[in-house]
Amino acid sequence: MAEQSGTKPVSDKPFLTDVKTLRERARKHIEQGAITEGYLADRDTVVKILNEALATEIICVLRYKRHYFMATGINAESVATEFLQHANEEQGHADLIAQRIVQLGGEPNFSPEGLATRSHAEYVEGSDLIDMIKEDLVAERIAIDSYREMIAYVNTDDPTTRRMLEGILAMEEEHADDLVSLLETMAR
Ligand SMILES: [Fe+2]
Ligand SMILES: [Fe+2]
Repeated sequence: MAEQSGTKPVSDKPFLTDVKTLRERARKHIEQGAITEGYLADRDTVVKILNEALATEIICVLRYKRHYFMATGINAESVATEFLQHANEEQGHADLIAQRIVQLGGEPNFSPEGLATRSHAEYVEGSDLIDMIKEDLVAERIAIDSYREMIAYVNTDDPTTRRMLEGILAMEEEHADDLVSLLETMAR
């Protein structure tokens, strides 16, 4: 740490590509749009993992919707409101992911065939309100771990995908937190 206080550069790696090379590279393969030669990630793998995330989000929308419509009992109203909000936010995640897949030159997989298998999280209906919340919490915890892994995989090779995943991860963590609070409130 003390060594860095002087003028010594942190790394010998050249920082920027010269303007001429950048301009030449940009003219090649213009049909690939946002994907330039500097894109370092394995695009097929990134599209594949994003499609798994897309399936996960769709399953989560379906599960939260089911829970929203099935919520009954004394605490039903506030819990249902939370379920609906989560459903809408998972739909927002699905849309972001699908959009990024297209930007990467891939195709978002919305096929109902095999959807539950592609998804990391499960579709569990739940028997009562507490059971539903617990199942949602399990699903959120699965999503949290898988997004964290995806972020580690993408690392610095695709900063845009990474930023998107980090934003989604933060919201899944909020969802998990909301659900724990609901469980605590209902235990009182
Ligand atoms: Fe989500
Ligand atoms: Fe979530």
